[in-house]
Amino acid sequence: MSEIVSTESRGDCLVIRVNNPPVNALGHAVRAGVVTALADIGGARCAVLHCEGRTFFAGADITEFGKPPQSPSLPEMIAALEDCPAPVIAAIHGMALGGGLETALGCDYRIIDRKARIGFPEIDLGIFPGAGGTQRAPRLAGIAATLGMTLDGKPIDATRAVKTGLCDEISDGDILENAIEFAMQQSQKRRIRDLPSPVVDQPAIDAELAKAAKARRGQIAVDKATEAVLASAALPFEQGLEKERELFLELIGGPQSRAMRHLFFSERLSAKVDGLNASPKSLGLIGVVGSGTMGSGIAMAFANAGFSVRLFDANADALKAGMERIRSLYMASAAKGRTSEAEALDRYDRIQPAHNWEAFSACDLIIEAVFERMDVKKAVFAELDKVARADAILATNTSYLDVDSIAAATKDPARILGMHFFSPANVMRLLEIVRGAKTYDITLATALDAAKRIKKVPVVSGVCHGFIGNRMLKGYGREAGLCMMEGAAPEAVDKALYDFGMPMGPLAMADLAGLDIGYDNRRSMTAGEDYEPLASLLQDRLVEIGRKGQKTGAGIYNYEPGNRTPRPDPDVNAIIEQLAAEHGVKRRDVSSEEIVERCMLALINEGAAILSEGIAQRASDIDVVYANGYGFPRYRGGPMFYADELGAGHILERLENYQEKYGPKWWTPSPLIRELAASGGTFGHWKRDR
Ligand code: 3HC
Repeated sequence: MSEIVSTESRGDCLVIRVNNPPVNALGHAVRAGVVTALADIGGARCAVLHCEGRTFFAGADITEFGKPPQSPSLPEMIAALEDCPAPVIAAIHGMALGGGLETALGCDYRIIDRKARIGFPEIDLGIFPGAGGTQRAPRLAGIAATLGMTLDGKPIDATRAVKTGLCDEISDGDILENAIEFAMQQSQKRRIRDLPSPVVDQPAIDAELAKAAKARRGQIAVDKATEAVLASAALPFEQGLEKERELFLELIGGPQSRAMRHLFFSERLSAKVDGLNASPKSLGLIGVVGSGTMGSGIAMAFANAGFSVRLFDANADALKAGMERIRSLYMASAAKGRTSEAEALDRYDRIQPAHNWEAFSACDLIIEAVFERMDVKKAVFAELDKVARADAILATNTSYLDVDSIAAATKDPARILGMHFFSPANVMRLLEIVRGAKTYDITLATALDAAKRIKKVPVVSGVCHGFIGNRMLKGYGREAGLCMMEGAAPEAVDKALYDFGMPMGPLAMADLAGLDIGYDNRRSMTAGEDYEPLASLLQDRLVEIGRKGQKTGAGIYNYEPGNRTPRPDPDVNAIIEQLAAEHGVKRRDVSSEEIVERCMLALINEGAAILSEGIAQRASDIDVVYANGYGFPRYRGGPMFYADELGAGHILERLENYQEKYGPKWWTPSPLIRELAASGGTFGHWKRDR
């Protein structure tokens, strides 16, 4: 037997043990080992399939995707489980995910640890269960429940696993011992393939499809998964398997799955920093300065992960309002059943209002989330410098400002960095961690560790105006504004980008954020910052006549009271036309292809600059920022992955086309794009000489 798969006889029961850390992915060695173990079953009356370590199989080995297949394949291994003359029992602990659950469904029975969960997360990789899961699961759980799990991707707990019929029994105590005992009582094989086909419950199926259509707009795996699951009712088992395979192979070789797999690995890579050589400090008490929306959300993110938090605001009324907001958000989450009421109250209790700066003297990490102005931030850090312990880490949540200048307001700039949360901070997964010129390795390592504990996806950025995400957004918004001035109606600009896969268009987004924010920003720009006045003419005019966006019931669009749906306004179109005439902009038809192309090229060109300047460590970090902080469609992999799919030569040619038309100011191709176009390289493979 291999080191990865071993066997042990326990009386008449053969225990097949798999040990493939960290998550027992079903790579070739595992599959081959299990097939060999089954072939050597000898006179055993039953077998138990058990995994060592923290989990049952977490799925097929994703690193093998796209490589030449190696026999035995996962379907072949599962067939060997079914063909084993003795009943085989899956002993599930931790998680049984994707191919892991399919493996369990290839067994005759499944016993599950009370804390374990099972699920089909493949949809997040742009695929669906492709090793018989779409044919076996419906024969136990029904079509609607299987579709629900397949299209939603979220795992279900042990109680539900038994209720749906996917598992047979819950185990309390030692899963292996309980599974052996259970196995010894089974004298019969009970292959799922021999069960009758599921019945079609159309209303329940339609309800699942409606949920997926909304949550997974644009993802082609939804239709293919549905077709495969429905085949379990329409076709005999073997033909159903063939259908599943055919549809699965179409997806796995396609661009959407490639993009989503890229994000899966990129999101795990982004927390790793080349050359970082320090262990994180342990964190206990967290301090948050500023109890506005951002500060409250940050406090909640830490409280949700079990940290005690001190929340301070220099304005006592604002602090009271912040605490009330936090309480009502927790109560709303309990009312929706996301947490129990007891848990919601516990989380709330972990956040203690603080009434003076001294409250921070015991904190290990203090995050500032006050008004976005350099003098205000510096004043906060000067106060923190007086009260915080010398070894405490101080972070600023600034979205744009120079972290090094803020750090300069303190005695020890090396313990300062940026922790840029995205709103709402208790929900959004992205956390940009801004490494200042003097930030200690241990400061950075601790912030990365904190991000992991509060379940964020961290991406490290260097210091520049807007860091990775907001710096790139500038060009994206600029091109949206220019397309509108040149002739596209606001709703046409938004629709083009929505159809591309963005959750909402940039102009509706501007209304949501408030047009006055950009207006004030443009008026407080410091030396070295620049913007395109033509692109913001409309917003400036609208703010000046009191249309500041959703909050005033009108901005680029109109809003009916209590309704956030943007409604086009002919008066705004008239203003655009008037402004265009005043500034000599010739109006023309601007196609949706042009809108998308210009907005994407602007993102990509700035992303290339960010990469070559070393602001981002790697192109995939930029993709992680956009997929998790800006709603970039996951099935497109992020702007830099999208650029690689188009090819650097094509990107260069299109940038040069716009440069010729509009001049060099915004359209000069980044030298990195020229380099990649010349060498045939990709952003994904490019490495900066350090
Ligand atoms: N294949 C290969 N590597 C995997 C893997 C898999 N299925 N699942 C996790 N890993 C790797 C990760 O890349 C990571 O590697 P790294 O340490 O080098 O960065 C390591 O295992 C640990 O993973 P996490 O950091 O994600 O660990 P967590 O404890 O946070 O999460 C988990 C564990 C919930 C199991 C999570 O890893 C996960 O969701 N994994 C993917 C599950 C999945 O999508 N399964 C379906 C696979 S596709 C499939 O089965 C197709 C089939 O239908 C034919």
